[in-house]
Amino acid sequence: MTPSPPVASQSGAATKAGAASKTGASKAGAAPTAAASHPSGDKRFKLLEVAMKRHQFRQDALIEVLHTAQELFGYLEPDLLYFIGRNLKLPPSRVYGVATFYQFFTLKPKGRHTCVVCTGTACYVKGADALLAAVRDAAHVGPGETTEDGELSLVTARCLGACGIAPAVVVDGAVLGHQTPEDLLRQMEGWAPRGPSGTA
Ligand code: FES
Repeated sequence: MTPSPPVASQSGAATKAGAASKTGASKAGAAPTAAASHPSGDKRFKLLEVAMKRHQFRQDALIEVLHTAQELFGYLEPDLLYFIGRNLKLPPSRVYGVATFYQFFTLKPKGRHTCVVCTGTACYVKGADALLAAVRDAAHVGPGETTEDGELSLVTARCLGACGIAPAVVVDGAVLGHQTPEDLLRQMEGWAPRGPSGTA
């Protein structure tokens, strides 16, 4: 049986006591009508806002929202967790508790660089598999893996919410659309153990 997520203490430490069946969030809480924007202007926060809006800022959509955040950012940094908590009107300790409870969430960057390739339907149709193959061949890294030298983590996403610019990727925080394998490898030049052309 899958254990229930914790209700985190104020210190952020996870406890299993009093675990709720989902995120422990109340469906009855008043949902905000507008997202609290992030001052950085980072486009990924905008995409995350759209995802939260799609869930009507419901607190019980926390896990889905964390998934989307990790797909967009590669990992869940504290500022990101705070941003989510603010928009879903959840205390940071609750968001942190859920993020640390599930193994599929990661709070630290794995590689020095992160490349997220969207493999959602729109991106897949437009050639996401060719993008993944190009990165795999150039950097010898598969989805969910980090190169041995710690330079590059390759992550896949189900949908970044940017289907209009498919195939979409996020390279070190920059959302890039209409990517070809050549475009993507150009972005990654110098990161991988071997360069995009296999010559490094
Ligand atoms: S399917 Fe890739 S951004 Fe939506």
